[in-house]
Amino acid sequence: MPLLIDTDPGVDDALAILMAHAHGEVAALTVTAGNVGLGHALRNALKLVETIGADTPVFAGAAAPLVRAAADAAFVHGRDGFGDTGYRAPARRAADEHAALALLRLSHAHAGRLTLVAIGPLTNLALALRLDPALPTRVARLVVMGGAVTGRGNTQLVPAEFNIGFDPEAAHVVFTGFPHFDLVDWEASVRHAFDFERFERWVAAADPRARFYAAISRKVRAFNRERGRPGVLAADALAMAVALEPGIVTRAEDRHVAVELDGALTRGATVVDWERRLGAPANARIVLDVDQARFEALARAALGTA
Ligand code: RIB
Ligand code: CA
Repeated sequence: MPLLIDTDPGVDDALAILMAHAHGEVAALTVTAGNVGLGHALRNALKLVETIGADTPVFAGAAAPLVRAAADAAFVHGRDGFGDTGYRAPARRAADEHAALALLRLSHAHAGRLTLVAIGPLTNLALALRLDPALPTRVARLVVMGGAVTGRGNTQLVPAEFNIGFDPEAAHVVFTGFPHFDLVDWEASVRHAFDFERFERWVAAADPRARFYAAISRKVRAFNRERGRPGVLAADALAMAVALEPGIVTRAEDRHVAVELDGALTRGATVVDWERRLGAPANARIVLDVDQARFEALARAALGTA
């Protein structure tokens, strides 16, 4: 199953992308603004694939949300999105094709076999859907990292999670355009944090991937500790684990999920019809729990630390 990863690298994106290359077949990376601006996100994606020696094509996409501007997450990931390590610029260049067009072209090339893994704001996917509403008929599976299914978000709007909150209109287009998708939300990521000490040991390994990740994640690891989080939160890595190994999911619920677009306090919230009161068909398989040992094994192997 070829993977197409739409991403805003971002430190946890990087771990997800390392996992995809370690355990899967990556057709492309399509890049969007989000954690940091498109320029930095694209450079990070190119640097990552160059560092691991992968020939994965990288496509630049949306530089801004569809409708309203949004704040980035550079305060978490570093101004450059990769921990401000001052790494040497990659020699690798992005392909000329826009991410949304590449997404559509690859959905034809891999019709019926492509797994789309969306680990950033959904702007590129929304653009692709508006260009071709039949996109979902050619996609085998869509896995989205986003949302907070009981309202415990991670942005300045309490119930909103970053990926959805950065571009709520795009999320609305995707959540109404795809009849079904797997949703790995922020709250699940908090329940599946990596123990700080164990993670420090993984990134202390000699493997070049561990070395690179140790450098780019230093700031985020410190941020996680300072914020009193239960461990290293790697939301995108969790979504990638679900994409790579559907059987890793130990608890999930199928429900209808919608996106709030207008609330002064709630714009970007993912509203779940938990009691099925509205009668709308479930569009999301909400992942609630995974096999943590298996999740950690996939992440460790991606860093080269068995
Ligand atoms: O809320 C977590 C999500 O926002 C992750 O994808 C992280 O990379 C940021 O983009
Ligand atoms: Ca991300």
